[in-house]
Amino acid sequence: MDGSIGEPIVRRDAAAKATGAARYAADFGHGGTAYAALTLSTVARGRITRIDTAAAEAVPGVQLVLTHRDLNQGLGEESFAMKGGHMQSSFLPLTSDEVHYAGQIVGLVVADTVEAAEQAARAINLDYAAQHASAAMDDPDRVVETAKESAVKVGDADAALAAAPVRVDQEYETPAQHHHPMELYATTASWNDGKLTVECPSQWVIGQRQGLAAIFGLAVDDVHVVSPYVGGAFGSKATILGHTVLIATAARRLGRPVKLVVPRDAMFTVGSFRPATRNRIALGAERDGTMVAMIHEATGQSSEIDHVAFPGTDVTARMYDIANIRTQESTVATDVNTPGFQRAPAEAPSFFAFESAVDELAVALGMDPIALRLKNEPAVDPVKKLPWSSRSLVECYRRGAERFGWEKRTPGVGSMTTADGVLVGYGCATATYPSAMAAAAAHVALAADGTLRVRTSAHDVGTGAYTVLGQVAADVLGVADERVRVELGDSILPSGPMSGGSVTTGSAGSAVHMAAVALREKVLAAAVAEGGPFAGREPSGLQLAGGHVVGADGAAHSLDEVLKATPAGSLDAAAEWKPESMDAAKMQYGLLGGIAFAGPVTKTHASYSFGAQFAEVHVDPLLRTIRVARMVGAFACGKIINPRTARSNLAGGMVWGASFALLEETKVDRPRARFANQDLAGYHISTSADVGEVVVEMVDEEDRVVNAIGAKAVGEIGIVGMPAAIANAVYHATGVRVRHTPIVVEDLLG
Ligand code: MOS
Repeated sequence: MDGSIGEPIVRRDAAAKATGAARYAADFGHGGTAYAALTLSTVARGRITRIDTAAAEAVPGVQLVLTHRDLNQGLGEESFAMKGGHMQSSFLPLTSDEVHYAGQIVGLVVADTVEAAEQAARAINLDYAAQHASAAMDDPDRVVETAKESAVKVGDADAALAAAPVRVDQEYETPAQHHHPMELYATTASWNDGKLTVECPSQWVIGQRQGLAAIFGLAVDDVHVVSPYVGGAFGSKATILGHTVLIATAARRLGRPVKLVVPRDAMFTVGSFRPATRNRIALGAERDGTMVAMIHEATGQSSEIDHVAFPGTDVTARMYDIANIRTQESTVATDVNTPGFQRAPAEAPSFFAFESAVDELAVALGMDPIALRLKNEPAVDPVKKLPWSSRSLVECYRRGAERFGWEKRTPGVGSMTTADGVLVGYGCATATYPSAMAAAAAHVALAADGTLRVRTSAHDVGTGAYTVLGQVAADVLGVADERVRVELGDSILPSGPMSGGSVTTGSAGSAVHMAAVALREKVLAAAVAEGGPFAGREPSGLQLAGGHVVGADGAAHSLDEVLKATPAGSLDAAAEWKPESMDAAKMQYGLLGGIAFAGPVTKTHASYSFGAQFAEVHVDPLLRTIRVARMVGAFACGKIINPRTARSNLAGGMVWGASFALLEETKVDRPRARFANQDLAGYHISTSADVGEVVVEMVDEEDRVVNAIGAKAVGEIGIVGMPAAIANAVYHATGVRVRHTPIVVEDLLG
């Protein structure tokens, strides 16, 4: 098949995944591996007063028992990722007798078998001096920390709101949620000649390498992080999780490889999660629907350890042409593990709130919800007054509404039913996601065996990077897809960005493009060089297509012929790419493994992907059960490199959005301050039976600003508008406005 950009090529890694040939972190084997198991704290806050490891050490096959008494020396400092480091949390377990949250690692056992390790981990006896703790942000003893400055301030929103003839002013809440990738966290660490190799699922091998080097006092070249396949990540595998450091420590002490696979229940507390949020949204409008005031006060749950949240009011503030905007961001520290990135970390909760409020405003105005949004479409970024690199939201609404059949909607609450009397609701909401870009490097080669090899350390977290990055190179070099080989997810490769923040295609893709363009120059130079098939001709008259170098007169010679005429029989090129607005120092910082993003708002442009999302819900008039019958999403994300993988990604986000709206909640056991539903029987996610038809439309865009290939963010936008679209549809069906998720039967019983 033609390997070029825009072709719906089947995933390059599909067969390897389907046949089991793809090796995930836990699949790597080493001779002499020992196995680890964890002991987790049963209290949420306090101090360990006694540890008895005698019974654990007596279990046959146990090699090592680590507690905080053993691990307080010798590790270098490495900070939390949101403070410029690489750790998920600034607290490393087993470095102190303090307990900060329930489910904290308080013991680690390594044994010859998994069974012995697990038995011994259960045999560690601990006593605690427990203190009062809270895992919910609405507990009365929790202190709200509000930033002194408004996050966004344009005009005078409070005065404009007070003067507006039509107003909505409401609070919306979302609960804590957990990622639940199919692939569990797993780490294998091994040491050879003082060098560390770590296999763990990762979205950022370069960053993890740099962080582990700092912790263990090694040169970066003496740390090797391997993660060729990732079984779902969604942000949970971006930073170094504490257990990886513990496993590497254990492996060094024992002088043999150590492997840990984290069980599902422990996934709730040894990694990160999506924190609970509370949002006050106030909107003011003229009677004709002109929006004049917006206030967004967002409060996010953080841990006591790291005061961090993901409020995203800078994103909601950019949706509509509003002259007066004020946003404010607060955190509430709770006794939980540090929350982290979870798909559209800021946007998914804040757009549930914001786009629900926009729907409430449409109801208050007696206006069609799409017409209200289109009336307030901004020509420039409402905050900085900068032009958009591209913004096709209006076209998304046009295409999405047509595909959904929005014109069949009758506005009255409960006015639509199925033939058998089930209430039907139609809802819509806007989605967006910032198109930030990161520095990236890539290496591209035409090998002597005729293959085109593409290498960068970026990751395919299940989203299609193996496929699309190959297409970017094949497009430039005119090579068929069968000849393309892509290597990703290994820290020995040229530095890719953190595969987070939806930056991979645009950033790593730009580096691959740049390297491929350089390689094309070399191919053409070789073709016209002495001994080459076009010797003596001008390279400007030649092009690459269909695996051949083609002259203006139609004469064609295969790439193999050209390569054979070169001294090495092969050609290659490397490139380091940075977004235009990034300086060289920040680029180098990024390529070494620091977080170096540019945008989405630069000095010249605001760059976002946009989407219009629609839901049809069916509500049983008596039982009040809610079913999602249909979802439609129309998205404009710049150039789509591969419509098949993009569609899968966007549809996956929409399915997750339905899950967010109706199912997902990590419940808090308040007296014990811990997550209560710590398994997939208690934590519900959408299955196929929970979602009806899922339709994805892609609106083509030519974005010449964002990068050379024109690719904006695809990764996370699919989830963003779905929860509000569903909540708005539930309102349309029932007249009940539910301002929290998940929306459940009880909310509709009235
Ligand atoms: Mo995404 S939450 O940046 O992996």
